[in-house]
Amino acid sequence: MSIRILSTSPLIGPHIEDLGKEFPELRIAPYRSVEWTEALPGAQALVVLLSEPLAEIDLKPCANLKVIGTYSVGTNHLPRDYCDARGIRIVSTPGVLTDATADLALTLLMALTRRVREGDALVRSGEWKGWAPDLLLGSGLAGKTCGILGSGPIGRAFARRVRAMGMEVIFWDRGGTRGAVDLGAETVRRLPLDDLLRSSYVLSLHCPLTDRTRGLLNREKLALLPEGAFIINTARGGIMDEKAAIELLHAGRIGGAGLDVYENEPDIDPGWCAAPRTVLLPHLGSATRETREEMARLLCDGIRNILKSSGA
Ligand code: GLV
Repeated sequence: MSIRILSTSPLIGPHIEDLGKEFPELRIAPYRSVEWTEALPGAQALVVLLSEPLAEIDLKPCANLKVIGTYSVGTNHLPRDYCDARGIRIVSTPGVLTDATADLALTLLMALTRRVREGDALVRSGEWKGWAPDLLLGSGLAGKTCGILGSGPIGRAFARRVRAMGMEVIFWDRGGTRGAVDLGAETVRRLPLDDLLRSSYVLSLHCPLTDRTRGLLNREKLALLPEGAFIINTARGGIMDEKAAIELLHAGRIGGAGLDVYENEPDIDPGWCAAPRTVLLPHLGSATRETREEMARLLCDGIRNILKSSGA
């Protein structure tokens, strides 16, 4: 029996199993395993994770391929232009992970500015001598400005969260500065990137990694941030020059960095672990059970619809 749906992983919840009941020619085989490589050329649908890039060369032998599903909202690990040219559809999981990712960005911001890591370590160390006026003083956020890169759903959800904490919000996005960003209860301004960076006490990244945003926050741009600014990244590592950010942390120019994503995950630059004032998470943005189940549902529905409508 030739394999029609080839997934690198079982997903959370019942949805991929249900899809397998409709399409018994579904196989789960680890990414780049012998079984996966052998099944690839015959597949009509692929399911991959964001950590499993596919290149044009992988897809060339796949004569029957109709759809690639990625268990992520980001699609930067897939050859989008090539897929467009060949009419291979890409299904990702927008919408359902918006709140989970915005929550995690806020968690990073709070952990960083209220020094949660150091506080936890102090209690566990047995060295805590009791309450003191100057013990682990953090930084307040109310009244300060949060610059957000990307005014898509996750950027706006994060904006609503920090607005509720009393922060001012400004946006930059790839579309330019025309029109305000609608947050529901209010609208806020879009600014040119340099103006936004000069004003951001907190800078939070929520734009996709594309040719336009790769390396967007280079050394010169990072240097525009005010002294002591905090950076939060739950988008993609490649948007920011990591070496430059690490240097600015060591120099005390940046107040801290809260990261969920890195340029070469999971082999991150060791400089991150040695840098002061960081909170480092292992790409957990969408990692709630509810969210991962919804992502699986969306992905499996998308694949089912495409296979059915193509008469497969
Ligand atoms: C997470 O980074 C995603 O793209 O879903």
